[in-house]
Amino acid sequence: MATMLIVVALAFLATASCNKYKNDDKVILFVNKVGPYFNPHETYHYYQLPVCRPSKIEHKSLTLGEVLDGDRMAMSTYEINFKKDVDKKELCKVKFSDDDLQLLRDAIEDLYYFEFVLDDIPIRGFIGHLEEGGFLPHTHKVFLWAHLHFNIEYNEDQIIYANVSTKEQPPLSLDGENAPREVAFTYSVKWYQTSTKYEERSKRMRDNSFFPKTLEIHWLSIINSMVLVFLLIGFVVIILTRVLKSDFARYNIEEEDSEDLDQDDNGWKIIHTDVFRFPPFKSIFCAILGVGSQFLTLATGIMLMAVLGMFNVHRHGAINTAAIILYAFTSGIAGYIAANMYRKMGGETWVWNINLTSALFAFPLFLVWAVVNSIAWAYGTTQALPWTTVVLLMALWLFVGYPLTVIGGIFGKNWANGFDAPCRTKNIAREIPAVPWYRSAFAHCVVGGFLPFSAISVELYYIFATLWGREQYTLYGILFIVFGILLSVTACISVALTYFQLSAEDYRWWWRSIFSAGSTGVFVFLYALFYYFKRSNMSGLLQSVEFFGYTVLSCYVFFLMLGTVSFFASLKFVRYIYVNLKMD
Ligand SMILES: *[C@@H]1O[C@H](CO)[C@@H](O)[C@H](O)[C@H]1NC(C)=O
Repeated sequence: MATMLIVVALAFLATASCNKYKNDDKVILFVNKVGPYFNPHETYHYYQLPVCRPSKIEHKSLTLGEVLDGDRMAMSTYEINFKKDVDKKELCKVKFSDDDLQLLRDAIEDLYYFEFVLDDIPIRGFIGHLEEGGFLPHTHKVFLWAHLHFNIEYNEDQIIYANVSTKEQPPLSLDGENAPREVAFTYSVKWYQTSTKYEERSKRMRDNSFFPKTLEIHWLSIINSMVLVFLLIGFVVIILTRVLKSDFARYNIEEEDSEDLDQDDNGWKIIHTDVFRFPPFKSIFCAILGVGSQFLTLATGIMLMAVLGMFNVHRHGAINTAAIILYAFTSGIAGYIAANMYRKMGGETWVWNINLTSALFAFPLFLVWAVVNSIAWAYGTTQALPWTTVVLLMALWLFVGYPLTVIGGIFGKNWANGFDAPCRTKNIAREIPAVPWYRSAFAHCVVGGFLPFSAISVELYYIFATLWGREQYTLYGILFIVFGILLSVTACISVALTYFQLSAEDYRWWWRSIFSAGSTGVFVFLYALFYYFKRSNMSGLLQSVEFFGYTVLSCYVFFLMLGTVSFFASLKFVRYIYVNLKMD
């Protein structure tokens, strides 16, 4: 059943309808959304502006991805027929009230663009035109484009490409007292024959996008960061193996003539009766590992799908949909890992543990979404999800996500065998000596967060520009490699930091390992601040709340994923060194 649903979902992501037309067939033009050019996630319905609209508004039914992307398509009143040119023709006359005029002026000042959809091709253009001139006195003129000219390319019986140009006719001034009270909106259509194949139309759309071109990736800087990272990993591995070798040699000699074992001799061996002492707050500890593992799987899955070219790059919606569906279906992993670890660590209240695991991400997500959605709703934007979508998403969590967590948890609990620690833990905990500042938890978090962050810092700009800007990212292969590098760096740093901590006779490495690498999330957040204020032109309450809400959530996901990787790497390392220690 689950696999069937996944297959259906994936098939639905991959399909693209392919329309064929006969001469003079009606080609439907849908109006979609309008919004400020620099706020990609603030969009309104086209009919919220004073424009020509049909007497009865008919909405098109949309896919989940389109709804999530803020699409709300409705029939337009444009009459377009296949291969039939239209000279300047009146669409309708619109009477403007004072409010209407103000609405239009505000929209034009915020650089609103509109999006129509013709045969699945997004067509975008600006609503109006702003002229700013002179320093003193400052002049500020607002113009409206009342005429739209559509260019459509066809190949035999299929539509290949379409765009709109607004500049065919001079714009209307909306300034001052003599602003028009009634405007006739007009349009024209021109058809062009082309030899571009239907299969190449996504490339055609990409090359002639209204938004900036696909980002140029700076290969050199990416290679540069990769080389640095590999050097770093190599360095850590070499140092650690050398140090460990000498540690083992020293400890094993001491073993032979243990009479003169120097009690002052410090090091990680001394704490072997404490190092496997389970940490406090086991339940939430295991929940973090569970959800972290789930997100590692999810991220890998999404990137693999992207590398295999399963997403249409014009719309983010498909990725959102895939992420939501995969999140629901990978919940079993979270339940399994969390309950399994919890049982191994001797946890008793497994029902509570499973509930905590399922709420660990879902609850913050719901909270952020509720705040953003309420504001979006108050603003009347199309980012506010319709209640049917909300019900659908709730149902997905309630009937797929949550039950799978429980089932995974039950399996995890029942299949758990003992923790199998290489050393026995004594009842009485050893005292932990004071450490200098550079070995404090804070210093570890700074180092452990900064290095993984530096491995992805180049890539982060592209990711932000894709998610919160207008750029399109297509090099998923690179992203996948960088993801692999990120995880390797995290594991290496975690092992090194854990080694330092144990050498300082501090055995509380469990939580420390999660936080030391998980703090990468904090660095990503700092980068987001920089991006928001210095690299983007986003503005307004709605866009800010949306940006920061979802950024905090993403940083939290970083924390969960990297904390998990870090802990499991440290666990492997700790087991390795204490197994290899000759014990009495
Ligand atoms: C729109 O399409 C026409 C016809 O293909 C083309 O000549 C024109 O350059 C395009 N305009 C823009 C702004 O892309």
